[in-house]
Amino acid sequence: MKQLLEDLKTVRLDAESNRVVILDQTYLPGSIVYRSLGTPEEIYEAIYRLRVRGAPAIGVTAAYGIYVCCRALEHESFTDFYDAFSQIRDYLASSRPTAVNLTAALERMERCVLEYRDCSIGDILDRMKEEAHNIRNEDAVSCRRIGEYALSLLRPGMGLLTHCNAGHLATSEYGTALAPVYLGQERGYAFQVFADETRPLLQGARLTAFELQHAGVDVTLICDNMASMVMHNGWVQAVVVGCDRIATNGDAANKIGTSGVAILARHYGIPFYVLGPTSTIDMRCPSGDAITIEERSSEEITEMWYTERMAPAEVKVFNPAFDVTPAELITAIITEKGIARAPYRKTFESWGL
Ligand code: MRU
Repeated sequence: MKQLLEDLKTVRLDAESNRVVILDQTYLPGSIVYRSLGTPEEIYEAIYRLRVRGAPAIGVTAAYGIYVCCRALEHESFTDFYDAFSQIRDYLASSRPTAVNLTAALERMERCVLEYRDCSIGDILDRMKEEAHNIRNEDAVSCRRIGEYALSLLRPGMGLLTHCNAGHLATSEYGTALAPVYLGQERGYAFQVFADETRPLLQGARLTAFELQHAGVDVTLICDNMASMVMHNGWVQAVVVGCDRIATNGDAANKIGTSGVAILARHYGIPFYVLGPTSTIDMRCPSGDAITIEERSSEEITEMWYTERMAPAEVKVFNPAFDVTPAELITAIITEKGIARAPYRKTFESWGL
């Protein structure tokens, strides 16, 4: 894990150049390329194109992003500054609609700006920088805590199946679903991880397999349609997945295909755990029906990754980026504040959310 943390920094602020530096995940696993972002358009594009992705990492990028964009402004009055801030906030928030961490981070930056509205613009910017660092550092601490709670439910030698990438690359450090894997590795748990490749954007093949292998974890890559067979074979004792938005009733949106894995897990009697920071819980959202699901371009299915198009021209395509796993298929939701089981709302409220 130490090597992974040293080698790959998902998102960071380069204060000297006043730019956000991301590890461009579209080049993985082939090359490690860092990209520096300084304008609203560059930050929007990086989030929209999934150069940086994963709910917590998007939130951290937006927080640093709005800070560097505001630092580049030249307004002297608070009203002008706040108008510009609001425009950038709305623009960045529209880059991806499902992960609530994006809007949560931008709202937190806004609260910071408003709290210091009577200070000079220079002081407001300093507080924004501090707040963006806080969001990043709190995410790293949360991920470790999520890992500790999750590890308390797992046993050495277990086979774990995961979908998409909810690892180090999706967060500031450690990941959410993969945090117990890394902690377990540090403590000799010797987990065997099955990574779904995760069509259509292959986050499992390109990112999860890459980062686990890089960290020396025993990982086996499977196509999404092989999950039933590895479960049937008795190779999976728990499923661990991340989340992009959790409703108060416990319904959880995550990468497309997650709900199918949950249905399989129920069929085979395997616990299905959703892991994420409490910033992913949307107390304004009563159920999965209220979650906006991002739809992406048809080329991701028909052309991307192929040397020639693999579907008839003009065929109708449906490409939702996420689906909702109903709460009744979830064994527990594991956060930095503890482990929640149904009824979820009561526990979320007891955590002060
Ligand atoms: O479209 P992506 O790659 O951003 O989707 C990511 C996921 O669905 C993750 O599982 C989720 O964001 C949790 S990341 C800790």
